Amino acid sequence: MTEHAQHHGHSHGGHSHGRAGHGHDQHGEGHAHPSGAELAETLDLDARILGSYLEEATAWAADLSAQKPASIIDVGAGSGVGTLALARRFPNAHITALDKSATMLSATLEATAAQGLDGRVAGLQADLDEGWPASATADLMWASSSLHELTNPERAMAEMFEALNPGGLLIIVEMDSLPSFLPETPPAGSAVEPGLEARLHATLASNGWNQYPEWTAGLERAGSAVERRHFPTTGSSTPELAARYARTFLGRMRNALAGSAAPADLASLEVLLGDGPESLERRGDLVVRGHRTGWAARKSQA
Ligand SMILES: C[S@@+](CC[C@H](N)C(=O)[O-])C[C@H]1O[C@@H](n2cnc3c(N)ncnc32)[C@H](O)[C@@H]1O
Repeated sequence: MTEHAQHHGHSHGGHSHGRAGHGHDQHGEGHAHPSGAELAETLDLDARILGSYLEEATAWAADLSAQKPASIIDVGAGSGVGTLALARRFPNAHITALDKSATMLSATLEATAAQGLDGRVAGLQADLDEGWPASATADLMWASSSLHELTNPERAMAEMFEALNPGGLLIIVEMDSLPSFLPETPPAGSAVEPGLEARLHATLASNGWNQYPEWTAGLERAGSAVERRHFPTTGSSTPELAARYARTFLGRMRNALAGSAAPADLASLEVLLGDGPESLERRGDLVVRGHRTGWAARKSQA
């Protein structure tokens, strides 16, 4: 293990350096970095509502694995939604949740302990911008919404691939777009501008949010043929839960876009975040959508 990597038990101090929403530029914090607890809440809400991709992507990993993985690393585990899904999919595997944030590792280990998985999951605190921890090898590596956060993702990809056991599989997942909540067509007479979310997302993108390159070429350079798969997801949620997620997310967008969105769009956000009849909690027509893409690269047996 390198100096910057520390194995963790079940309690952690320290502060998260994670960014809002899905971290760097994905769920949008603008200039206000959320606390670790806020980030963990957003990640958990996302998994509760849009988490069917976790079932599909882990099933995909199982199909592509040459043999059942005995060791798994969840790279940038965050609050542990991937760790939990991997533990369910691969009931005999030992899983290492790797994150630079002690707060996030703590959240993951609490979540896994609550499911009685403590014997199968360990935390590893490591900042991948400083290099891959030497001791961390696995049959399956899973990096969901985390690779784009690294300073040098291509180097990290190559290091992960190198640290895979022969025949092992690397899975990368990213969000294609920010989650959206509003119906395509606003109700007649709405004070919310049509096309609001698309415009806000475009402004965020031009501010550099949710940006990641097509990973295929980098993975191929790391040494493997790559499969790619799309996971379109419409959330399954109660109206209350959808409103909670929307409030968390749109609230952060409002902070981030205060200086750059059109005044009419900011006014629409105020309508949604206010407590009038079109507020998120009262409108009753929210549909959470969030699409992801996965990449899979397998290391040869030799
Ligand atoms: C957006 S969250 C994704 C969490 C989880 N994989 C998920 O899908 O919900 C990204 C995570 O990557 C971690 N991360 C960011 N940069 C990192 C780095 N340089 N080394 C290790 N972890 C990092 C953050 O602390 C955060 O927990």
